[in-house]
Amino acid sequence: MRIIVEKDYHAMSKKAALMVASQITLKPDSNLGLATGGTPLAMYDKLIEMYREDEVDFKEVQSFNLDEYCGLEADHPNSYHYYMNDNFFNDINIKKENIHIPDGSAEDFAEECRNYEESIKNARGIDLQILGIGSNGHIGFNEPAENLNVATEVVDLTEETIEANSRYFDSKDEVPKKAISMGMATILKADRIILLASGKSKAEAIKRTVSGKISTQVPASLLQTHPQITVLLDREAASLIN
Ligand code: F6R
Repeated sequence: MRIIVEKDYHAMSKKAALMVASQITLKPDSNLGLATGGTPLAMYDKLIEMYREDEVDFKEVQSFNLDEYCGLEADHPNSYHYYMNDNFFNDINIKKENIHIPDGSAEDFAEECRNYEESIKNARGIDLQILGIGSNGHIGFNEPAENLNVATEVVDLTEETIEANSRYFDSKDEVPKKAISMGMATILKADRIILLASGKSKAEAIKRTVSGKISTQVPASLLQTHPQITVLLDREAASLIN
């Protein structure tokens, strides 16, 4: 596990963007695994800036998002489809057909999960996976539990995650209770992974992720088994590790 600590959120995001851009420079047809949430927003902004400056080109890139809420149509302002278009895809030259996000409005979720796994396999896997982390140690929507999912599945969100994500909705009641999420093996099969965390609220989860034993109660701790993982933090998120 390689741990990089930057002085603040801005510096962390800039470094993350540079790492994504170098991946694409080395392999223009890279398959990127992408996350939503607050953490990667400035990384996406920086990548858009680099695209505008001709420093990175997304025309051959394929993307696979980690997760999507069940029950939200793609054009719902709180869906992860909407988030990705609004915060990133609309401003770069990625091809629409190369964008993959689980369909939260699918009629048959089990089939959607199988198809999603299949689409990653058909693309020959993910080259670089970007992850955020929940303050409870979740990655994707793999919540702390006795057992974790292997592949893409429908998952129940914990109270803590519903609470954390309610900041984007008018009320907590509107937050969907279920989501489709890549499973632990889907994530761990990526060739390289960058885990991003910023702020004090992530410090405890980061401590439990990088030090100590692997536990399904801290899903991110399983990342310790990955041979090519970079944990990219700001000082606050790193404040409980030495
Ligand atoms: C988002 C995702 C989640 C978030 C995590 C952190 O696609 O899979 O695991 O990365 O909940 O969210 P933020 O960045 O909002 O703190």
